Amino acid sequence: MRLDLVTIFPAFFEALDVSLLGKARQKGLIDSRVHDLRDFTTDRHRTVDDTPYGGGAGMVMRPEPWGLALDAILDGDDSASDPVVIFPSPAGERFTQAIARELAQEQQLVFACGRYEGIDHRVVEHAEGRGRVRLLSLGDYVLNGGEVASLAMIEAIGRLVPGVVGNPESLIEESHEDGLLEYPSYTKPAEWRGHEVPPVLLSGNHGAIAAWRREQQLERTRRVRPDLLPPEELAGA
Ligand code: ADE
Repeated sequence: MRLDLVTIFPAFFEALDVSLLGKARQKGLIDSRVHDLRDFTTDRHRTVDDTPYGGGAGMVMRPEPWGLALDAILDGDDSASDPVVIFPSPAGERFTQAIARELAQEQQLVFACGRYEGIDHRVVEHAEGRGRVRLLSLGDYVLNGGEVASLAMIEAIGRLVPGVVGNPESLIEESHEDGLLEYPSYTKPAEWRGHEVPPVLLSGNHGAIAAWRREQQLERTRRVRPDLLPPEELAGA
């Protein structure tokens, strides 16, 4: 998978060199390229923002450097035929595990990381005219820019790219994969500071363990995320 990250703070993406995603890069499974938006400015001060039309607080990112940056990426000889351009934004649709699974199938994702009060909306319109575009929000809170949101999305997407996670089975039994929160996990020792591992997990009875885990998933989901419960489970709540 190829990733293009456009930002005025390239240093955020040094995080892609560590841990699982760092290994995926070394293995050639993920090819990420960071582009400094200021390299696409044409004035002496490398200006990327200006005051908003219509007034209001804050600054808006000017469209020209964004246009040049996206052109350079999308028209590049090594660009995929139909990349998805992602604008992380609190005004976007909510990013979910289902969207992560969808995007993990793509050949190329371009993350356009805005700062300040956002990017001039014509950049989104123009990108929509060129291909597939998604405005994606991490959640109902406001970050200072799209970089941290992009990193979170890239981690969620990247670990679903075949070969990135060593044991693909570990991807199945996780929160959100089956629509529920995951069950609690335990390892050795069997007793720690007076807390015991639930005895069923030591029983060796695989059927009983599976039933217990399912019940734990339902109980947790019912308690903290009832919005995730399927209607038939909600009825029993
Ligand atoms: N940029 C600022 N806040 C954001 C959020 N909640 N999700 C995605 N991008 C953002």
